[in-house]
Amino acid sequence: MFYCSRGAQSAENNLRAMTAHASMCCRLFDRQRSSKHFRKLFVQCVNGNTQRLYSGATHKENALELGDSTSSAANFASSVKARTKQSLSDDSILPFSAFLTDNFGRRHNYLRISLTEKCNLRCQYCMPEEGVKLTPRGQLLSTSEILTLARLFVQEGVEKIRLTGGEPLIRPDILDIIAELRKLEGLKTIAVTTNGMNLARLLPKLKDTGLDLINISLDTLVPAKFEFIVRRKGFHKVMEGIDKAIEMGYNPVKVNCVVMRGLNEDELLDFVALTEKKPLDVRFIEYMPFDGNKWNFKKMVSYQEMLDHIRQQWPNLERLETGHTETAKTFKVPGFKGQVGFITSMSDHFCGSCNRLRITADGNLKVCLFGNTEVSLRDVLRSGVSEEELLQIVGAAVGRKKKQHAGMYNISQMKNRPMILIGG
Ligand SMILES: C[S@@+](CC[C@H](N)C(=O)[O-])C[C@H]1O[C@@H](n2cnc3c(N)ncnc32)[C@H](O)[C@@H]1O
Ligand code: SF4
Repeated sequence: MFYCSRGAQSAENNLRAMTAHASMCCRLFDRQRSSKHFRKLFVQCVNGNTQRLYSGATHKENALELGDSTSSAANFASSVKARTKQSLSDDSILPFSAFLTDNFGRRHNYLRISLTEKCNLRCQYCMPEEGVKLTPRGQLLSTSEILTLARLFVQEGVEKIRLTGGEPLIRPDILDIIAELRKLEGLKTIAVTTNGMNLARLLPKLKDTGLDLINISLDTLVPAKFEFIVRRKGFHKVMEGIDKAIEMGYNPVKVNCVVMRGLNEDELLDFVALTEKKPLDVRFIEYMPFDGNKWNFKKMVSYQEMLDHIRQQWPNLERLETGHTETAKTFKVPGFKGQVGFITSMSDHFCGSCNRLRITADGNLKVCLFGNTEVSLRDVLRSGVSEEELLQIVGAAVGRKKKQHAGMYNISQMKNRPMILIGG
């Protein structure tokens, strides 16, 4: 058997053991029958046969690029569409995709797609001080390629897609992309992570188009400090975006706050207090090392330290139950409308339940945020291969995913992209 599709939820528990075994068999079998052509293509794509080139493309130029850049992608799209229909009609008893299951049995049903390398802010922890050199627009995924890949991953069992960047809401065709994603059968959740600058203005249309979830980044409640951290003005716009999201019925509205010693750790209690009257889910994120962000251990405030500090003010802070793949450890002050969470990637990683894959704006598949192994799906798509060959390449990359990340000290020494070129 070459192709394994996802199983129906109801049959899932009974089939789990069998499924893991079947997935492995499929994978081994797939590998054995790999053609020379596949191996060559895989090596090319993993080694990155395209060197990163840089340009200073403007937003205007970016808007022009949004037309389809490859005809092979269009052909590919129709073949995937046909396959999607077929797999949806006969997937009721088959296990989760072998291509999206790794060697540790983790099923990757959550995909993050970076829509752009550009941003209207310059956050210190994300964007290197000297800026980043942008990928020439012809080497970025076109809209059609993004949708083709999204369709393929959803066909294989992805149920949630998060659009990120760079700043996804500066992409001129953001509404079209969401509208197209909305049509994908099997995709349950479309989420966006945004800095909130354009949110108040776009939200009514985003909601109409079908956006389900919003995470808004905000690291301080002090306007002058906001300007220092993100190297731009805009605090009030972001607050307006948060309020608009609440007003429009998003609940909870997630607020991402990267905590850095000497910068904003003195505001932890103010952020928690914000959840008293507002249905916010404030998520304190441990500061993570990426290229160019000058991370060091002393600047990182650990989950335990944050929790101890908050508990001094609210000793009755309650731990809430969360789903298996939920990354945040979640708490609530009894009686408060909202809640708080901690993303503890550095001090207490959650690799064991990781269900995420990422596609960068230039089309590389990253199976781990902190791993520097990447596979160019863009090059594979543009080489005009079949859907099966592309899936094999995805499957091989997922299969090589490590059990866990290398630990914060090692990560900080490793070469990786700056966060803005990954998409958090
Ligand atoms: C790269 S941004 C892209 C989306 C959007 N521009 C935004 O800021 O929300 C995605 C998330 O990554 C987080 N992030 C960026 N650099 C980080 C770092 N060094 N450590 C922890 N989180 C980081 C941001 O705070 C944001 O919530
Ligand atoms: S965190 Fe988001 S808003 Fe800040 S520079 Fe990175 S991409 Fe832009």
